[in-house]
Amino acid sequence: MSAATVHVDLPGRDYDIHIGPGVLDQVGGYVAAMGGRRHVCILTDETVAGLHLNQLQTALTAAGLTSEALALPPGEATKCWAQLQRAVEWLLEQKVERGDVVVAFGGGVIGDLAGFAAAILRRGVRFVQLPTTLLAQVDSSVGGKTGINSPHGKNLIGAFHQPSLVLADTDLLGTLARRDLLAGYGEVVKYGLLGDAAFFDWLEAHGPAMAAGDMAARVRIVTRSCEMKADIVQRDETEQGDRALLNLGHTFCHALEAATGYSDRLLHGEGVAIGCALAFELSARLGLCSQEDPSRVRAHLRDMGMKVDIADIPGDLPDAARLLDLMGQDKKVLDGKLRFILARGIGDAFLTSDVPGDTVLGVLRDALAMT
Ligand code: GLY
Repeated sequence: MSAATVHVDLPGRDYDIHIGPGVLDQVGGYVAAMGGRRHVCILTDETVAGLHLNQLQTALTAAGLTSEALALPPGEATKCWAQLQRAVEWLLEQKVERGDVVVAFGGGVIGDLAGFAAAILRRGVRFVQLPTTLLAQVDSSVGGKTGINSPHGKNLIGAFHQPSLVLADTDLLGTLARRDLLAGYGEVVKYGLLGDAAFFDWLEAHGPAMAAGDMAARVRIVTRSCEMKADIVQRDETEQGDRALLNLGHTFCHALEAATGYSDRLLHGEGVAIGCALAFELSARLGLCSQEDPSRVRAHLRDMGMKVDIADIPGDLPDAARLLDLMGQDKKVLDGKLRFILARGIGDAFLTSDVPGDTVLGVLRDALAMT
């Protein structure tokens, strides 16, 4: 099966995303061609290291490169100052120079942390993203958002620093737990909903086969998602406008994540899926899209065996007013107004700061009443 390539065309910072089964095995050739020392520093996590580090280091050795890896603990808690410091000091111990390349090998946590380490090390070194989860392959490894969390909120410390190359090996998705794969799929559905109705039609038909392991379908969903993300990032790299469309479902999602303590009760991609369904419900109540659209979104998520409603989140949740309050603490608040991505229909999302709080409260109250 052939790999696909998506080009991210940013002036002076352009790069390729190679997508397909087995692309990891080509990493040595790509990294060797980038110049720098023939010694590669890899930041990864302990789970990914146990499963795939051997394959990565073998591929680097085949191209005449030596490598050393630092495996950090898996999980969101790793996106913190202490682990960032550990990573940066380790890279300095490894004598990484300005012209060298750092490799991020893992999911969104490792990609974000390693990208930020690369952004600040010696005022910026190049890095390569080797995303190992569906969420990282379709979203976080592309577009240059890097950073860590603060006790004040997620992703509040960071920098825009584009990778020099992304290799999304779709074979690696085979070792993901089904729950993690489906959580990543929440971000895939988001792309169809925000800007490509035909892609959403295709997902309705082929999503279940993709989840069952159909490799051609996996390559297609990663490729289309990366194409859409590349297109948006090229128009608006630093999120002054259009890039905010990528936050469809995220205002609801961040409130639900905060309400569940960023715990295993709700994975980020699950929150995105529930948030997309709520954003369409809100859009329908505001008369922006038809009543059928939220039902169609929910039906597809249900078909995929995903969390669809707030009622699908285990355990107690705060009331609607508190959830609305938590939305207000999201960093997508501008001048005290809630910014929402709403939709005129499937594939037609837009950004607005003109959403009546009462309507949002009504959507949340009704969703909580189902629990
Ligand atoms: N994950 C949203 C963005 O990259 O802008």
